[in-house]
This record gives sequence, structure tokens and C-alpha cells, in this order.
Amino acid sequence: MRQIAIFDTTLRDGEQAPGASLSPQAKFLVAKALADLGVDVLEAGFPAASVGEAEAVARIAREVRGPTMAALARANGPDVETAAKSLSGALRSRIHVFIATSDRHLERKLRITRSDCLARITASVARATELADEVEFSAEDATRSDVDFLNAAYQAAAAAGARTMNIPDTVGYSQPQEFAALVLAVRAALSSFQRVAFSVHCHNDLGLAVANTLAAIDAGVDQAHVTMNGLGERGGNASLEETVMALRTRTDHYRADTAVKAERLVATSRLVSELTGIPVQPNKAVVGANAFAHASGIHQDGVLKDPGTYEIMTPQSVGWEARRIVVSKLSGRRGLAARLAELGLPLDGEALDRAYILAMKRGDEVHELDERDLIAIAAEARRSPKEPTFTFVPATPAD
Ligand code: KIV
Ligand code: ZN
Repeated sequence: MRQIAIFDTTLRDGEQAPGASLSPQAKFLVAKALADLGVDVLEAGFPAASVGEAEAVARIAREVRGPTMAALARANGPDVETAAKSLSGALRSRIHVFIATSDRHLERKLRITRSDCLARITASVARATELADEVEFSAEDATRSDVDFLNAAYQAAAAAGARTMNIPDTVGYSQPQEFAALVLAVRAALSSFQRVAFSVHCHNDLGLAVANTLAAIDAGVDQAHVTMNGLGERGGNASLEETVMALRTRTDHYRADTAVKAERLVATSRLVSELTGIPVQPNKAVVGANAFAHASGIHQDGVLKDPGTYEIMTPQSVGWEARRIVVSKLSGRRGLAARLAELGLPLDGEALDRAYILAMKRGDEVHELDERDLIAIAAEARRSPKEPTFTFVPATPAD
């Protein structure tokens, strides 16, 4: 099985999500959790951004063990040196050098020529190789860059000693098929360089970050940049939990896996959400509160008979204690019975019929029946000596 390296950038790009900035102590706690999760490379931050950021990265590099420690640097000497200083306590360090390569960024933002850009890549990557164990190079806005110039930029980085070539879809512009084709083009352009690894960094402006990352993995990249909960600039980055679980659930297709301990995903997601103050949307894949919740009677009947009918991974495999049967006006009698049994209030026969009628009434008033509703309903259903006023005919489970 091919192993895909997980380069986690929650503490760098994730922290660039508006409102997500973290205190040094919070960064440290997240770094430890990510190391426990089993990420291969941990981008702890952008040390040139501020003194506090440089110190936070330095503490993580000194004290967190497991992943290779990475820090971001623009393609200039001072940034590279600041990154190297912050990483000096790491057992294995990687400076992540980046510069934009699209004409739009070169002309409008950096106001430099293409040849200035190549010169900066050569000088900064060469300096980084002197100061860190590994150097990764990113061509910012790669997907809107002229492909020949993009390849020249990667060739300059490889010639200067960078060993990981990261292809960012900085503005989430690419489509999966064209992104895969770009990966193949860059790989072909660097075929004469030995021991070069390829990586991608996808943003989610069109909701395609994970799809693009997976297409790139299909096209042969060795590493994926991801963030917990998909945090990141604007629409965010490719989500770690989705990328990892797509590979694990569909090894038949990707024939690839990661070293991530998936059973820690939910706890790590919660920690990141609590410390950043950014809630996880309920319908978020894998770690959202509804990821393993079943509300409709048909689905409840299915999962109670065979969880595989409506679940493609088990809740426990990603760190949930159990699936959730939600009692609402859409629920079935079987789902209600299961939920009552979970609460230690098993009912059957006519008592269950009565409870079901009461639950449906309550379901017309609330989105979801809570424990108090269910306890009251079970008590009422048990108490009533009367036959229900009508006979409940359960719906036939159907698709
Ligand atoms: O989105 C981007 O291009 C980046 C680079 C620094 C890799 O975050
Ligand atoms: Zn980014």
C-alpha cells in the first residue's frame, strides 16, 4: 500500500482562518494533539510573522516529538533564517519556502519579473538547505501560473536543493481533472531529479479542496497538505479528516493510506474547535455531530438491522462512541424503541405503540426529541392502561 505523508498546516494556514488565531499555549496544545494523531509533518507556523509566533513555533519544535517540524518562510534570506532559528530545537526540521509564480501575483503583488522570481527561489532555497534538514518549495498560485514558468520554478528549487515540491491551488480555482493533469506535468518536468517528492495544498473556495487533493493522490503525489476541520484562509483548506478517511475507506480505489490514528479524529477536531472558537458544522463529514446520526425511520430501520446500509465507516473508527438515533417526527417505531432502550427505558407492544403516538405528536413541535421528552413519553406510555385510539401500521422500509 502506498503511504501518503500528511503535512498538517492547521497551525499555519488553519490559523489564517479569520478569527482562528491561537495563543502560544493553545498552539502548543494543538501541536501535541496533532503529533498524537500521527501527522508526518507539522507546520507549526510562520515565524517571520511576529516575535510571538516565532517563539510559539520554537517551543513546539523543542517540545513536541514525532512529526518533522516545519515552518513557513517567504523566499528571502531573513524569513528563512527566522524560520531556521525557530526550528533549531526540532529533531527533524523542514523549512517551507514559498513564492508566487503566477503573472498576476508577480506583476500586481510582488512587482517583480519572472527572472527575479527564479533568482529568489535559487537563493532562498539554497540558504534553507544550509539551515534545515529538509526544504519544501511551494509555488504560490501554481494553478493560475503559466505551466512552463511553473516548471522552471520547480526546477530551480530542485536544483537548489529542495526535496519536496508542493503544488498549491492557492485560490481553490482548479478542477480535479485539470489539477491531476498539472501534477503529472510537474512530475514529468522534474523527472531528471532524483529523490524529489511531490505534494499538494488545496483551498476550498469552490468546495473542491478534498476532491482536488484526492485527484492529485491518484496522479501520484506523495504528500497532502491538510488542516483539521478544513480550517484555513477564506473557504479553508482540504480537511485532514476527510482526506484521511477517503483514503482509508476507499483503499480499493486509491491503494494508499496514511499513518493517522483515525480513532483520534473526533477528539482532535473538538480540541481545535474549542481552542479556535470556530464550531464544526453539524453536517461536516466524519467529525460533524450529524456524521453518524440517523433521523428518518427508513434509515433507522436499516442501520439497526445492518449499520452498513447507511454507514460507510463505523463511528468508533473515527472516535465517536456510537451512532446516534435521532427521534423526530421522521423517526420510525423501531428507531424510537432503540433510543428508549439506550436510555434504559425499553418498551414494546402496546406501550411502544402509545409511546410512538406521543413521540410523533411531540415531533410536530420540536426538531428533535431530547432525553426529557423521551423519559416523559416512556412514563406516560407505561402508565396508560388504555388501548391506543388507533392501530399503528409501520411504514414498509423502502429506499
Ligand atoms: O495557499 C497557498 O498557496 C499557501 C502557500 C504558502 C503554500 O498557503
Ligand atoms: Zn494556503
